[in-house]
Amino acid sequence: MADLAFGNLTADLAARCADLERRAFPTADPAELLSEADITAYAETFPEGFFVCRDGDAVVGQGAGILLDFDFDHPQHTIAGITGEHQCGNHDPDGDWYYGTDIAVDPEYRRRGIGRHLYDLRKDLVRRLDKRGIIAGGHPDGYEPHRDRMSVPEYIAEVAAGRLHDNTLSFQIRQGFEIVGVLEGYLTDPATDDYAALIVWLSETPSR
Ligand SMILES: CC(C)(COP(=O)(O)OP(=O)(O)OC[C@H]1O[C@@H](n2cnc3c(N)ncnc32)[C@H](O)[C@@H]1OP(=O)(O)O)[C@@H](O)C(=O)NCCC(=O)NCCS
Repeated sequence: MADLAFGNLTADLAARCADLERRAFPTADPAELLSEADITAYAETFPEGFFVCRDGDAVVGQGAGILLDFDFDHPQHTIAGITGEHQCGNHDPDGDWYYGTDIAVDPEYRRRGIGRHLYDLRKDLVRRLDKRGIIAGGHPDGYEPHRDRMSVPEYIAEVAAGRLHDNTLSFQIRQGFEIVGVLEGYLTDPATDDYAALIVWLSETPSR
């Protein structure tokens, strides 16, 4: 971690962030991933919620999000639908929740604590802004080897129960998130049959 620098998004980093996004989600539909134009819009809309990790000039990690209200009685949504145009168009500064739209670490830089630090920065922001917590769609990217034996919702239930380990979902559980549901058609990705796990982290100190 010694040479790594963490900070907020600036527009000049947009192309490098978009490139990282495609490397981090190689099986997802690129049309649904954050593009350079989307990230440029984030730099204008809510750069405080978009954290970037750099190694020199290279962007090696990023965690993005917007503020919104969320209806837990009707939780089904897609990434594109809930986040709006440029995946940040639905940002509402008065929203109760930070919705994590993206977290990605360069495959060459994983397992060094970058992901955890990005989550810590998000949690600090939530506490500072007095929001209720973080919501996201967790990507069950370890599903493929289990395809013959179970569906993605069954796999997510096994990971939630601690009987299977998923690189992304188990990591998110260790960051204090709870899997509270399954989202259908969330992000077009043949590796996950388009599913995601609805995950929630509750702030310890919200006043609302
Ligand atoms: C999920 C993701 C962001 C995690 O990023 P990361 O930087 O590798 O995360 P960390 O290094 O903080 O932690 C990952 C694991 O490495 C371990 N780790 C951290 N530092 C370590 C070190 N120095 N040595 C060995 N292991 C270490 C952590 O304990 C953690 O293990 P665990 O999951 O068993 O608890 C990354 O794997 C990724 O980009 N995945 C693809 C994109 C994706 O699916 N994003 C999530 C969408 S919901």
